[in-house]
Amino acid sequence: MNTAVNGKLAAARAALQYLEDDIIVGVGTGSTVNLFIDELAARRERIRGAVSSSEASTARMRAAGIEVLELNRTGDLPLYVDGADETDGYRRLIKGGGAALTREKVVAAASRKFVCIVDESKVVDILGRFPLPVEVIPMARSYVARQLVRLGGRPVWRENVTTDNGNQILDVHGLRILDPPTLEAAINGIAGVVTCGLFAHRPADVVLIGGPNTVRRLE
Ligand code: 5RP
Repeated sequence: MNTAVNGKLAAARAALQYLEDDIIVGVGTGSTVNLFIDELAARRERIRGAVSSSEASTARMRAAGIEVLELNRTGDLPLYVDGADETDGYRRLIKGGGAALTREKVVAAASRKFVCIVDESKVVDILGRFPLPVEVIPMARSYVARQLVRLGGRPVWRENVTTDNGNQILDVHGLRILDPPTLEAAINGIAGVVTCGLFAHRPADVVLIGGPNTVRRLE
């Protein structure tokens, strides 16, 4: 197993310490979360079910025998576990590499504790090395792209990707994000943007960083 996969698995396993009996757990999307889902499957009798942030995670959980519930019926959740594409030292994140950012942001917002699981390669001093995903409604894509250029970015349309919500993704390159909450608000304020992948207003509460031998915790 390579270092990144080892780190992802270590972080996914460490997240199990936050799992309490009989809860409904929010579950994110991506390869790190897939490892968490595999661990969760072995403990599925302990929980009431899960709220999913994507069709991909829903399919994986259902295949593993985990009951998937709708957020509209569960109310707020005690725990949300998800990965990230980048984290800074303040637990602010870039997410959306898997195009699930909007549902991820909704489930994170509806959860009392957000535990983020990453390997060491995701930790940065300043967010923006990873192109920032922005979900846009299709007819607004070019307009939004022009506004993102005015904010200093280089948006690239992630062609051939349609989100679970029927929308499109612009990946914004070249940003050095010195003030994440302000940029998050500015991008989310552009007409036609559904949401951007900056998680600064609602950062993770805990980031578990899996390394080769240890798991570091940012809290
Ligand atoms: C999906 C995400 C993922 O959490 C992010 O892309 C990290 O994925 P991985 O665990 O595969 O590295 O935000 O939209």
